[in-house]
Order: sequence, then C-alpha cells, then structure tokens
Amino acid sequence: MSNQQKLSGKVALVQGGSRGIGAAIVKRLAAEGAAVAFTYVSSQGPAQALADSIKQEGGKALAIKADSADAEAIRAAVEHTVESFGRLDILVNNAGVLAIAPLAEFTLEDFDRTYAINVRSVFIATQAAAKHMGDGGRIINIGSTNAERMPFEGGGAYAMSKSALVGLVKGLARDLGPRGITVNNVQPGPVDTDMNPADSDFADSLMGFMAVKRYGHADEIAGFVSYLAGPEAGYITGASLTIDGGFGA
Ligand SMILES: NC(=O)c1ccc[n+]([C@@H]2O[C@H](COP(=O)([O-])OP(=O)(O)OC[C@H]3O[C@@H](n4cnc5c(N)ncnc54)[C@H](OP(=O)(O)O)[C@@H]3O)[C@@H](O)[C@H]2O)c1
Repeated sequence: MSNQQKLSGKVALVQGGSRGIGAAIVKRLAAEGAAVAFTYVSSQGPAQALADSIKQEGGKALAIKADSADAEAIRAAVEHTVESFGRLDILVNNAGVLAIAPLAEFTLEDFDRTYAINVRSVFIATQAAAKHMGDGGRIINIGSTNAERMPFEGGGAYAMSKSALVGLVKGLARDLGPRGITVNNVQPGPVDTDMNPADSDFADSLMGFMAVKRYGHADEIAGFVSYLAGPEAGYITGASLTIDGGFGA
C-alpha cells in the first residue's frame, strides 16, 4: 500500500468542509483514498464544486447541507454518509465560528451560537458517528491554540469553546478507547482563511505573537489531521495537539 493511498477503503465525514481548513482536510483525505462526505451551511456553490473536483479525479465525495447548530441535521448527515458509502471510519469536527466583540457588547446570542457550533456539535456528531465506528475509528476535532493563549480582547467565548474541547476529548477518549476508536483535538494557530485572512489589520497584530513569522496554511493542518486519521496514529488519544507556529510558546 503506498502512503498516498493509506486511507483506501475508509469513509470520512468532515463537519464544515466547504471552505478553509475543512476544505483542505476534505481534499487531503480524498487524495489518500478515503470516500469523503462533508457538510456546509451556506456555501452550496463552493461545496458542490469541491465534491465535483474530487469526483473528476476519480475520488468519492458528497456535499451535505447541515447546520452544525442543529442536532437533527448533524445526525441526518451521519446517517446520509453511512447510507451513501456503507460505513464510517473517520469523523473530523471542523465547523466553527469566531465572534469577537467588547465584553459590554457581546451578545448572548453570539455566546450561545459559539457554544452550539464549536462545542455541542462535536458531542452530537461523535455520539452519532460512534455507533457506526469499529476498531481503528478516528475522531478528530479542530480546536485552537486560543484554548491555551488568548492574547487579545473580546475573544473570551471563542477561547472558552476551544478550551471545552480539551476536556471533551479526554472524556470521549475514555468512552471510545476500549473499542479501538481514538479521539483527538488539533489546535491550530493563525491560518490564512476567510475566518482569519493573513492580509488583515488583525493579522498584523497577531504576527507579533508568532515564533515562526508567518500564518499557517490550511494544507499544513490537513497534513496533521491526515496523520491522526491514519494507521500509524492508533496510540494517540485524548490529546490536544498544537500546530501554531509557536503562537503559544
Ligand atoms: N483560521 C484560523 O486562524 C483558525 C485558527 C485556529 C482554529 N481554527 C478553527 O478551524 C476551524 C475552521 O476554521 P476556518 O478558518 O477554516 O473557518 P472558515 O474559513 O470560516 O470556514 C468555516 C467552515 O465551517 C463551516 N461552518 C461554519 N458554520 C457552520 C455551521 N453552522 N454548520 C455547518 N458548517 C459550518 C463553513 O461552511 P459554509 O462555507 O457553508 O459557511 C466552512 O466550511 C474552526 O473550528 C476554527 O475555529 C481556525
């Protein structure tokens, strides 16, 4: 088996795979041989284009509209994936939102939405996906280095949501480890995407915190996720693993 096809025969579901880090993960898992379903909430055009491009290259892909704030939609996406591809081996919980506002102006609606998409969706998808997974199953969440370091104002709810994943993966690793399923949390630093463009004023302020003086590329996060999804990573579980160019160093 070549390294390029290390995920041949596997089926993956990526929550939030239409853009940015999620899209890079979808492409990488598909390039390594997995059939990949992924969700989106608003980007129907880019999502369909991504699925089509994978299929044109001989891969298997499926774009599913499912709001990660909606428990039933998440469960339906899991079932749709299994019905379409026959099994489920890898779940990547990437969908996330970033709300930043001064404390006095931060709305409870934004607080609740941050929690629902960044935390609650991970629990719901894991619960639904685990029913279909066996030995070798992989659950990978996309947290943030902001779980450990939040050096700017207005990001308390976001930092809280990513810190919550640190504890969540520990508990879920205990639940699923006896079945040979690993659960981990990847914590990126600043990565050039629509959420955090490398050419913004905000980026200039973040650059001062970096040891490596550049933004990360979505492909670098996808490569790390691919490793965790593969057969060599079976002894890593319950871990929060940082890939942040030294942002938190
Ligand atoms: N970029 C960074 O610097 C950075 C750093 C650390 C951690 N992260 C984390 O990495 C993850 C991806 O970030 P990104 O920068 O790639 O963000 P992005 O460019 O804003 O893309 C977000 C992705 O998540 C999907 N999504 C958002 N809300 C959703 C919902 N309610 N239901 C389903 N899908 C939803 C989006 O779908 P649509 O296209 O349909 O909107 C899109 O595919 C997030 O969890 C983020 O917190 C990012």
